[in-house]
Amino acid sequence: MVDLKNKPSESDHYFTPLSETRLSESIRTEFVGRELHLFDELDSTNSTAFQMAASGAVEGTAVIADMQRGGRGRRGRSWHSPAGCNIYTSVVLRPKIPLLKAPQLTLVAAVALSETASHFLKDPESGRVSIKWPNDILIDGRKCAGILTEMKNEGGQVAFVVVGMGINVNMTPDQIPDELASPATSLLIESGEPHLREEVLQFLYSNMENWYKRYLAAGMPVIRERWNSLARIEGKRVRAAAVIGGVSGYEDGIARGIDNEGALLLENEDGRLIRITAGDLALL
Ligand code: BTN
Repeated sequence: MVDLKNKPSESDHYFTPLSETRLSESIRTEFVGRELHLFDELDSTNSTAFQMAASGAVEGTAVIADMQRGGRGRRGRSWHSPAGCNIYTSVVLRPKIPLLKAPQLTLVAAVALSETASHFLKDPESGRVSIKWPNDILIDGRKCAGILTEMKNEGGQVAFVVVGMGINVNMTPDQIPDELASPATSLLIESGEPHLREEVLQFLYSNMENWYKRYLAAGMPVIRERWNSLARIEGKRVRAAAVIGGVSGYEDGIARGIDNEGALLLENEDGRLIRITAGDLALL
């Protein structure tokens, strides 16, 4: 943790509104973020991207907001979305995959997001960054980014997926509300320096495009391997709050990583391997 007494002033350009020019100049991807919609303020970038996708937005279309009035998190939670400091973005993808596989895109995004956090922390081995299943990006155990994936079903196939990502970039400790479900942090707090949001977005979009292409070409095994090495959860004692065998409850056990479907494998006290396909995880 760093001393933020000398934190940058509000006039510093790291804290000025996102610039569409700086963004379009820096984005070098083939399709992710090529079609870009930047807003000062939205209810939720996921809701706007979803409407755009339903009206035919091309694959890779990205929506960014400087602040969200109603940022949404997983499991009905809200996502704290103050102006001028963080990234709130949603990307439209159109993979030709069955509905059941759609949650795998969350894992693709988690890999890209986790590598992005490591890059801006100057932590290339990702020693400080981990992924809490399925999609919380943590730095030294505190949450720095999250993913909300929503999709449209068309006869059992995915019509489109909206991958929404929130990254705490330049948020200072006094901007983090006390009542958050899990301890939060930002890239600024953890690296001791502010980051240009345009650069973080550019890195995130190209990383996401790369991993998405690899996923389409080689399927889950390639994502699984990288996710498992980044998450560093294998062998840890965890509690999963999930629906298991049709009943919602808790299951304690040793995490054994994710399988090729993206489900979390939990070895329970009887040595039985349980697959958890949706839910939340806490380290014990
Ligand atoms: C979570 O960890 O619960 C998921 C948080 C996802 C937040 C992002 S911010 C951009 C996009 N728009 C939203 O309303 N939510 C996602």
